[in-house]
Amino acid sequence: MNPQDIIYQPVPVKSFVIVGKDKISSAEQYLIGLLLTYKHLYAFIDKQLMMKSQIVRDLAVELQKIGCPMRAVEATEEAKTMDSVLDMCSWLMEKGADRDAVLVAIGGGITTDMVGFAAGIYKRGVRYVNVPSTLLAQVDAALGGKSGVNFEKYKNMLGVIRQPSITFIWPSLLTTLPRRDFLSGAAEMLKTFMIEDNGNYQKTADLFFDMSSEYSMEVLMNGKDEKKTWAGIMKKHMDTLCELIGAAANVKAGVVSRDPLEKEERRKLNLGHTFAHAIETLAQRDGGERFSNHDGASEIKGVTHGEAVAMGLVMAARLADRYFRKDKNDPTELEAKVSSDLWDADIPCYCPYTVEEMAETMKKDKKAEGGKIHFVLPKAVGDVKIVDLTVEEVIRLLK
Ligand SMILES: NC(=O)c1ccc[n+]([C@@H]2O[C@H](COP(=O)([O-])OP(=O)(O)OC[C@H]3O[C@@H](n4cnc5c(N)ncnc54)[C@H](O)[C@@H]3O)[C@@H](O)[C@H]2O)c1
Repeated sequence: MNPQDIIYQPVPVKSFVIVGKDKISSAEQYLIGLLLTYKHLYAFIDKQLMMKSQIVRDLAVELQKIGCPMRAVEATEEAKTMDSVLDMCSWLMEKGADRDAVLVAIGGGITTDMVGFAAGIYKRGVRYVNVPSTLLAQVDAALGGKSGVNFEKYKNMLGVIRQPSITFIWPSLLTTLPRRDFLSGAAEMLKTFMIEDNGNYQKTADLFFDMSSEYSMEVLMNGKDEKKTWAGIMKKHMDTLCELIGAAANVKAGVVSRDPLEKEERRKLNLGHTFAHAIETLAQRDGGERFSNHDGASEIKGVTHGEAVAMGLVMAARLADRYFRKDKNDPTELEAKVSSDLWDADIPCYCPYTVEEMAETMKKDKKAEGGKIHFVLPKAVGDVKIVDLTVEEVIRLLK
């Protein structure tokens, strides 16, 4: 056992609660009741979410009643910086928060990442609770205790691994989520089930296919309102969505509880992410100019984390086919399956950068060790292996 193991006190990362679609008011009461057990609460709420979500405004009223100070968070990648985290810490000091403080993060992955980081460093660490409001955060970002901010134009370069006391997953919060952000989380969900399937990968791909087909039919063919139609589709599929969000959260929490500090198994969760982080970094540098929707019909600006993950998944599938099966086809077999599942769900998955363009950025990957990167390669859906490769080997294999 090394010294790190001795001082690390794992909190049970499986402590997340899922509340189904029919229990909005009881969910709110349950959450407040849960939060009251902690006392000394300090809430950080995504500014946009506060404006868009009645559920969150109701929650804020309840938090106000119990005297919880609240602060708005600017949830953009540009604002996901050390300065923002230090501002959070200054505010906590101003409010007199001591070591008993419990920070509450209400928002997507940007909010939970920044609040988790602030909780990790404020007075050498205080507790925090996540209330994720995006699909991506409910199945991924708000679970597992990784937090961080962007630094020197690199994604999540500074951060800590420290578990939240609880993550409260409330799928009804998703009904105000824009479709593009939903699809971003959908990519992470498919990634999760590519790592551990249990029959959920195809079920999820089929659900997203149905949701996107219904959306296209109503909006593109019948000219219905985009936002209302999408919210209606989400409500219609909420039962299946709840079940699959629970399954995905379980996979992540299971992996993390077996390997909280990412020494081995947890690395699998990085499937597609070495490519994704390079794509995000390049997109930030060139202003996201090279991205357009996969159908070519509409331009989209920049790339979201989930979209970059989708592109990374396709590249990882291609790399795996080349590495394990010497598959020379273009596209390779698994690459064709993965990209068609993403395409059917309407998730942009075509990467506009060549692997040579991504090389320098990949070399700076946080997971690079001794010139090699731990690439997670899918042999098939539900079966991934970690293979150490240099960037040069990757370039050669993908040519
Ligand atoms: N810590 C981890 O393990 C981990 C894992 C994956 C991703 N991440 C990080 O998560 C971030 C992406 O997170 P995200 O996609 O959840 O997005 P986000 O926090 O950027 O939110 C996306 C957008 O949706 C808005 N929004 C959030 N919830 C809403 C709701 N319910 N209704 C309406 N609008 C809502 C936000 O204001 C924002 O504009 C990235 O910075 C990524 O690096 C972290």
